[in-house]
Amino acid sequence: MELNILTLCYLIGSITFIVGLKMLSNPATARKGNLLAAGGMTIAIAGTIFLYEEEGHKLGNYIWIFSGLAIGSIVGVLAAKKVKMTAMPEMVSLFNGMGGACAALISITEFRHLVKDFNAADYANDGYIFFSQIDPVTLLIILLGLIIGTVSFAGSMIAWGKLNGKVKDFSFPGQHIMNLVVMALILGLAGFMIAASPEETIVFFYVIVVLSVVYGVMFVMPIGGADMPVVISLLNSFTGVAAACGGFLYDNKVMLTGGILVGAAGTLLTILMCKAMNRSLKNVLIGSFGGNKAVAGPGGTPQGAYKEISLSDTAVVMSYAHRVMIVPGYGLAVAQAQHACHELEKMLTEKGVEVNYAIHPVAGRMPGHMNVLLAEADVSYDKLMEMEQANELFSNTDVVLILGANDVVNPAAKTDPASPIYGMPILDVELAKHVIVNKRSMKPGYAGIENDLFFRPKTSMLFGDAKKVLQDLIAEIKNV
Ligand code: TAP
Repeated sequence: MELNILTLCYLIGSITFIVGLKMLSNPATARKGNLLAAGGMTIAIAGTIFLYEEEGHKLGNYIWIFSGLAIGSIVGVLAAKKVKMTAMPEMVSLFNGMGGACAALISITEFRHLVKDFNAADYANDGYIFFSQIDPVTLLIILLGLIIGTVSFAGSMIAWGKLNGKVKDFSFPGQHIMNLVVMALILGLAGFMIAASPEETIVFFYVIVVLSVVYGVMFVMPIGGADMPVVISLLNSFTGVAAACGGFLYDNKVMLTGGILVGAAGTLLTILMCKAMNRSLKNVLIGSFGGNKAVAGPGGTPQGAYKEISLSDTAVVMSYAHRVMIVPGYGLAVAQAQHACHELEKMLTEKGVEVNYAIHPVAGRMPGHMNVLLAEADVSYDKLMEMEQANELFSNTDVVLILGANDVVNPAAKTDPASPIYGMPILDVELAKHVIVNKRSMKPGYAGIENDLFFRPKTSMLFGDAKKVLQDLIAEIKNV
């Protein structure tokens, strides 16, 4: 009976994970989806703690279990409440690393159980299993969970350190070859352990742990800090696969489902991010953005002429427009100007202007960055246009106001085959009547390349910090 209730708990858990994940794909339902999946996880954990039985024994160890749950919950809630939106990728990385470490610890624990059984069998061959009789698939899964979980843990810790500025990029000639050698060594030792007698190979297990840490560190060390979101997503999928190995070992369906979902979602997200940036994963992992950077002139001074627009002219142009499209980018997040931006939108709407936001899939530095940023300021979801939708509307738009975006509106992606971002889909802002670009200088964005849009006849530059400019613009519009 209890087992049936436990199975039901796991089924509810699995279903809520799938439905919750689906709900995450829309900003309007994402929050509820997260809560739903968390509720399902709580049911699955509670079911395991109170209902799981092995050979008539319940789990026990309640002090340990509840102490761990309490500490983890307190740390998690405080961290989530305190984190700034711009620091979100580093928190995801830290939490992901913890997941990888858990999966690796499960493998270490289960391996120690195997060794204990083996040693006991040495003394009394009375029903204990011999190591050599152990299903090689079990050992394979233990080793997979160990390697993938440890690599994910070590890599995520380095990613976390890089994003909070404590760890600097580091590479040396031949590093990628060395990484390949370390990986080949790990796989070779794992293969040997499965094939050979355990007596001589137990020590290899711990050598694999050390080598996996080395691999995780060396794998992430050379990757440019700004490429971290893609790497974090990849490491996230590793953790999912490692957790699925744990589910397989314990024959725990909900852990298996959760792990597979995380693994698949992380892989898909990695592929989508690379696609949206028009970069191969190989390029992200072993190269800089495109490699051949055509940076603006010395000190960020560009070649060519651009024209500036004053705040009062911007206020007039925007107030008399029928349709305005705001293009948010990384600079809006840096300036924390989302509230001022919403204020501007409300003010223009009151004046009868139709205002929408054009959201590029990789604007900012993490998936959904702009959606989360604007949601923070209570911008209505139906104002947000996805890239394809926005591109259809630009030709009917009077003014495009670009706020701290650069690469995602760079026409070189369409016109210059030599450009490192060539092929990346962009927002076709040039189809609008006027393009006003707010940034602090003519310096390039993430890809490190000059943007020809800034020199085109329809474009006017409005220099300054996004928050200050928006506040001043709001004051000007009040007087129009
Ligand atoms: P970027 O191309 O990085 O441009 C941001 C611009 O914001 C900069 O040119 C900067 O110019 C300006 N800026 C910075 N601080 C500002 C401030 N306080 N006020 C006003 N402007 C400010 O941003 P984007 O257009 O959003 O493109 C995102 C880039 O990140 C893409 O290349 C994308 O591939 C990459 N990327 C994205 C992701 C995800 S998942 N979103 C992951 C990895 C990489 P100034 O310095 O002159 O002000």
